[in-house]
Amino acid sequence: MKKNAAEIREDLKAHVDFLTEAGAGFVLRRPEDQAGAAAGASGAPSALPSLADRPPQTAEERKLLEEIDRHVLACTLCDLHRFRTRAVPGEGDRAAELMFIGEGPGRDEDLQGRPFVGRAGQLLRKIIAAMKFREDEVYITNMVKCRPPENRVPHHEEIEACSRYLIRQIELIRPKVIVILGKTPTDYFAPGREGMTVRRGRFGSYLGIPVMPTFHPSYLVRNEGNRELKRMVWEDMQKVMALLGKK
Ligand code: URA
Repeated sequence: MKKNAAEIREDLKAHVDFLTEAGAGFVLRRPEDQAGAAAGASGAPSALPSLADRPPQTAEERKLLEEIDRHVLACTLCDLHRFRTRAVPGEGDRAAELMFIGEGPGRDEDLQGRPFVGRAGQLLRKIIAAMKFREDEVYITNMVKCRPPENRVPHHEEIEACSRYLIRQIELIRPKVIVILGKTPTDYFAPGREGMTVRRGRFGSYLGIPVMPTFHPSYLVRNEGNRELKRMVWEDMQKVMALLGKK
């Protein structure tokens, strides 16, 4: 569908906002630098699985994804269900090329039943716009679907219990690339001893799908004045865009 002028202005504003916050100096790079970013810290994209081998989603798979949402909304598999207002299965295109996985719902998400709608979510949504995706073209979800009390890090047993939903979502959505936000999903999908500063920016792989760890947007929000963090996140997202053929 063609966008109207107001929608285009809105998209452009989100794009420019994030790029400006990220430090616009590095955005205006020479094409040869961008090719370098796309090659990534861990090797060229050619070393990654072919993105062409992605069979179209079937009607049955779409139905199963809706069923997962219903199960999540009624889930009592771990103690987190006792504290929730609403469970948050995820939102966006259930056949998306690009999937974002965060840690777990916070207060705003718990109240609204939608992922990433608070301050960190607003930043994530700016990043998505800067990557030239509409919000409804990507899929956004979390490791755990219910809010941990006081926004604590989810416990291992909670992540394990909820992983049956997440793994099924990944298998059925079959994104071409997954972006994992912060330490909790990175410990699950790309475990390692190093800190996020070392682990971010290098593609790993899960079920043959390239997985890019980057900083969690709430870490960026907490360190608002730190342009270097935003620059690193943008560098990571440029690698993802290059892999998806977004210029
Ligand atoms: N932080 C997350 O990890 N997920 C959300 O949905 C919101 C904040």
